[in-house]
Amino acid sequence: MKFFVDTADIAEIRDLASTGMVDGVTTNPSLIAKAGRDFKDAIREICSIVPGPVSAEVTATDHATQLAEGRLLAKIAKNVAVKVPLTMDGLKTCKALRAEGTMVNVTLCFSAAQALLAAKVGATFISPFVGRLDDISEDGMQLVDDIVTIYRQYPEYKTEVLVASIRHPMHVVVAAKLGAHVGTMPPDIMRKLYQHPLTDKGLAAFLADWKKTGQSILPQAKAAAE
Ligand code: G3P
Repeated sequence: MKFFVDTADIAEIRDLASTGMVDGVTTNPSLIAKAGRDFKDAIREICSIVPGPVSAEVTATDHATQLAEGRLLAKIAKNVAVKVPLTMDGLKTCKALRAEGTMVNVTLCFSAAQALLAAKVGATFISPFVGRLDDISEDGMQLVDDIVTIYRQYPEYKTEVLVASIRHPMHVVVAAKLGAHVGTMPPDIMRKLYQHPLTDKGLAAFLADWKKTGQSILPQAKAAAE
């Protein structure tokens, strides 16, 4: 399963990218506004930090303007994935950009029917927003299950399921169990994935017992110097 980080915060992206666990980045107009950066400059910098797909969203709602915006965004860097909303205009723009070899992430997906259309127009990624469905007492992970199941019926569908609007680590775990291709998550959720109190407790106990042995793996002088 690929891990994308869902933010436009450059410092957070740099920090997490240094772990080697970041396969891509997703942004959207709200995240760009939150970062307070020039949009195209931020995308250019993010693309220089993370070699994987970096989603940059169009802001027009009509096909012609979306296509012009998408073409401009795609020129920023080869790893830009143009994000378009799941509307009829967005689907038309997706098909046109894909025909030009541009990666496209179809976003704001809330139903399996929508995801079916995204695959039909050759989307690179489909982004079901699981957290926002959970927020209104619908089952976001059931949508992921439905999309993965439908896509598996048609080998010609190459669209990857990019689970978005992730609220906690269990969204990531369940998405992985369902066979989703990508999980995009806020930085704090990515960091929560490795945290467990029993790991901390167990490590502390190991180190306390090791200290009692008076031993050192490295030569004493070198260990002291480090
Ligand atoms: O990539 C989509 C994501 O940023 C939406 O998350 O928390 O606003 O539903 P959220």
